[in-house]
Amino acid sequence: MAREHLMSAVTTPNWHWNRFADGAALADALADRVAQELARAIASRGAALIAVSGGTTPGRFFEVLSNRDLDWAKVTVTLVDERFVPATSPRSNSALVAATLLQNRARAADFVPLYRASASAEKAALEAGADLEKMSWPLDAAVLGMGGDGHTASFFPDAGGLDALLDPGSDKSILAVDAPGAGEPRLTLSLPRLADARFVALHIEGNTKRDVLEGALFSIADQKLPVRRVLDAAQRPVEIFWAP
Ligand code: 6PG
Repeated sequence: MAREHLMSAVTTPNWHWNRFADGAALADALADRVAQELARAIASRGAALIAVSGGTTPGRFFEVLSNRDLDWAKVTVTLVDERFVPATSPRSNSALVAATLLQNRARAADFVPLYRASASAEKAALEAGADLEKMSWPLDAAVLGMGGDGHTASFFPDAGGLDALLDPGSDKSILAVDAPGAGEPRLTLSLPRLADARFVALHIEGNTKRDVLEGALFSIADQKLPVRRVLDAAQRPVEIFWAP
């Protein structure tokens, strides 16, 4: 590779910031963009596949997206990651998606959960992985979140075997994660499943998370944080959606 091309490959950031005045404006813009990506997939291959995050941030975006005019019967929704808890738990990401996204027009969408009532997260990962293998990959859209510790999906900085979990060559779809910082065992899509998505958004809100993300993007000390490693692995530049 010529030197100037090498330099540009090294210095071109694999992300793009979209800043909004508030969370409502962000939810509207992110819902527009995601709906556009799903409509494009439906037009080109007759179906669309999206993985979304849980936690506290995406609720408003889900509510807005659920009213977007799409052929939702052709959309399959799954999760970027899940806590190893049943859907009856207030910590269940499936329950959040059921209550806030799979309603209104989006009620017609199909939902594939990651949680399985297995003896362990490892067994659940195998069972869910077998089901997810039957879906049509890559994802048309992945909407990531980020924790204040720099985790994204369930790639926690203190996870056991983090480097193995972040293997870009993994042939698995779902991985079990054990991390003290996570609260409970987790299930996460593997790095290649996320990185290959046709569209990847990172949705964060608040100045504290912005500072953590900027540290991961611009400080050498923090460039090994999981969020940075996922952004670096993405096949296409990641769209960061931020509001104060
Ligand atoms: C989860 C998520 C996780 C989330 C971050 C941010 O299950 O916890 O999917 O990756 O995006 O933890 O969570 P908050 O939105 O609650 O800050």
